[in-house]
Parts: sequence; C-alpha cells; structure tokens
Amino acid sequence: MAVTEPLSDVAAHYLRPGTLQLREQPPLSLYVHLPWCLKKCPYCDFNSHAVRAAPLAEHTLVRAAPQGRLPSAPEVNAAAAVPEARYVEALVADLDASLPLVWGRPIVSVFIGGGTPSLFSPEAIERLLSAIRARLPLIPDCEVTLEANPGTFERDRFAAYRAAGVTRLSIGVQSFNDAALQALGRVHDRAQAIAAVEEAARAFDTFNLDLMYALPQQTLAALDEDLATALAFAPPHLSVYHLTIEPNTYFAKHPPALPEDDLAYAMLDRITERTAAAGLERYEVSAYARRGHRCVHNQNYWQFGDYLGIGAGAHGKLSFPHRIVRQVRWREPERYLERALAGAPIAQAEEVARADLPFEFMLNALRLREGFDLARYTARTGLPLSTLEPKLAEAERRGWIERDLQGLRPTERGFDFLSDLQALFLP
Ligand SMILES: C[S@@+](CC[C@H](N)C(=O)[O-])C[C@H]1O[C@@H](n2cnc3c(N)ncnc32)[C@H](O)[C@@H]1O
Ligand code: SF4
Repeated sequence: MAVTEPLSDVAAHYLRPGTLQLREQPPLSLYVHLPWCLKKCPYCDFNSHAVRAAPLAEHTLVRAAPQGRLPSAPEVNAAAAVPEARYVEALVADLDASLPLVWGRPIVSVFIGGGTPSLFSPEAIERLLSAIRARLPLIPDCEVTLEANPGTFERDRFAAYRAAGVTRLSIGVQSFNDAALQALGRVHDRAQAIAAVEEAARAFDTFNLDLMYALPQQTLAALDEDLATALAFAPPHLSVYHLTIEPNTYFAKHPPALPEDDLAYAMLDRITERTAAAGLERYEVSAYARRGHRCVHNQNYWQFGDYLGIGAGAHGKLSFPHRIVRQVRWREPERYLERALAGAPIAQAEEVARADLPFEFMLNALRLREGFDLARYTARTGLPLSTLEPKLAEAERRGWIERDLQGLRPTERGFDFLSDLQALFLP
C-alpha cells in the first residue's frame, strides 16, 4: 500500500500498542540507492537502469573511458543523462519526509549503493553527505561506504570522494580476466580494474573488492589468477559471490555455460583457503575481512538491525516498541523523483507478520560464521526464544547448528547447507 499521509502521522500510528515487545531499538543504518549504470549487466537483477544517451542537459561529466583517453561522445552523453542535482534534491526530500520515523536515533553506518554511485560527481556526493549530516546524528567515525565501478574511474576521483566524507570504497571488480569481464558484459577491462584498485588503496584506509566466481567458462586456474591478483593488493575486505542466474535477467533468457557444481565447490574451497592464508577471515558466507575491517553496514543487516533506505526502490526496516515495519520506495527512477520531491517517496509499507519474524531473523543471522547471542533474538524480534523451537532441535539433530547457554552458530556442515538450514525456519 502506498503511503500518502505525512510520515509524522504514520509515526504515531506505528507507536500504538501491538503484540510484540521490543525492549530496545536496534542500531540504525542508512542506505542510499543511486539507480543508474552506464549499461545493464546481463546477470544483474538490482534496481539499476542504463543511462539513456541524452542531450547535455545536466553536466555530470563522468569519464567512462580508460585513464588518459578522453571519453567518447556516447560515454559523455550517457553520463550526462544522470539527473544528479535533481536526484540529490529528491533524496534530501525523502530524508526530510522520513525523519519523524527515526527521530533522535544515531546512525551507525551509511551505504551509498546502486546501481553505480560512482557515476555521481564527488561534488554531488558531498552535497548528499552534508545534507545527511545536517539531519541525522552520525556516530563518531561512522562508516560511510560508496560503491564504485572501475568503468567510471578517473584519476583523483576516489580521493575526492574521500574528501567528500566517504570513508570506505567498495569496488565492483568481478574479475581481473578480460575474457571473463567481456562475458559478464562489464564496461571495464582488467587494466581499468587494476588502476581503480590501486587508486582506492592509495586514497582509503579501508576498502572492499567485489569478485564473482563460477563464471562462464571459468577454470580453477583462472579463478586462482583472479584471487592472486586481488590478494596482491592486500585488500582489507573481499566479497566473493557465486554468480547466480537471476530471473528476468538477460542470462536467464540466454543462459551461458557455467562450471558444474563440483567445480564450483572446489572453487569455494580454493577461495576459503587462499583468503585465510592471506589473513582474511570468512566472517559471513561471501565476506572476508582482515581484523578491524568487517563491514559495519552489512553486519547490521545480518544482525537484524534497522535501516532506513532512501532512493529509488530502496528497502527499509524500522523497529518500534510493538512492531517491525518494512518499507519500499518507488522503484522506477522518474516516478521516484516525482514522488519523493512531492514528499511521498514510499510505494509500500507493511508490518512484518509475527509468524514471519523467526525466519526473517534466522535468514540473516545464520549467514554469520559467529552466529548470534540468544538474547539478541528476543531483543530484535520482540519474541521469546521458544518461538524458534522445535526447529532449533531439528537443526541440531541434523548437525547444522551448535549452541550453548549464550549463543548459537552454524556448524561447518550447516554453513555448507545454509539454504536448507535457513529453510527449516520458514513459517
Ligand atoms: C549491487 S552490486 C553493485 C556494484 C556495482 N554496481 C558494480 O557492479 O560494479 C554489488 C555486487 O553484487 C554482485 N552481484 C551482482 N549480481 C550478481 C549475481 N547475479 N550473482 C552474484 N553476484 C552478483 C557483484 O559482485 C556486485 O559487485
Ligand atoms: S554495474 Fe552493478 S548494479 Fe549496474 S548493472 Fe552491472 S552489476 Fe548491476
């Protein structure tokens, strides 16, 4: 149901009595979605839209060309089609409208994701972050991540993001192999990926590289080379995702030849071995970090924390003393712009049903190698621990979890069968 009344009235509505008993509000993060990319990748089902070549109406000049070469006309035109000033204005209007729902709560992390946020100029990101800081109390040393695509890289751009207030860069490398990058329809090549990572390492104290594995035609040796190249940069954080074929993508209609399951398992073993040898700990299914460099923002998701999501198609989860509410913003960028600027950014809002909460919590919490403190379940869901039994007993019987008086974690085997383990908690 679209929310049309002012969110101050909605806040009062959410504060009324209900059946859940949340004694404390969880940490709150802010997610900001920027929905444009130079080109849609054939495997991607995120809310990302290829920028349409347009007359140079708003001058967001992004050099999608390799370093040292001036961008070609289509590249300039594509970048120019991002209505960045109007979009930042809409995000600020979205935030203003949302404030009554999060009044006074400190923000533990900000994540500017996409899409391709690095299509936005450092000046636009600075305006956005200043507007956020003026409205929300960010904790000291608040993690502020920005996703960057090596195809939008130009010299000094990353340092300018840093100066704008970004503290952590997450680079969508995917692979360092030119043939793989081409098969994935990426807009960048190996040389641009390397240049982007070198610049990130220079400009930031902490950064992440996104890689994917089990790529079309990928061999174990090719994966090894990707890992060797990535680890040579000593990244503080690495995310390595198994390429999945998502419905409604180009790859779903035209499936590429992918490695067999056995090979994909061997690849995951290799990833775990090599990252561990390089001093990176696998703390979540797809996330590997050096000590002190885990992603605060994603950890808050996995620990069933709260997040306000602003921007086209952004999802949010907010807790109140007696209910948990999920929100979704208008997905289509033009529609979002229009609705957000009119002060009504929310396309859908609904309370999470009591019966769905155990699964929703476990879906996230079991992704973490360390599992969770039992007290956190009650604190985050407002439900007694007894609502997880007898499913916990079943998971234990299958050897998928271990627990003590304090906490619960997936076993090695449970981690291997994670989706089956999570499915046990379906309502
Ligand atoms: C939201 S995307 C944004 C990153 C940025 N737009 C880029 O692609 O360079 C975050 C990451 O999700 C991963 N990803 C996207 N689609 C995927 C898929 N179908 N299977 C596995 N991982 C995927 C990629 O590693 C990507 O970098
Ligand atoms: S650049 Fe990233 S968000 Fe954009 S289409 Fe490709 S994978 Fe999706």
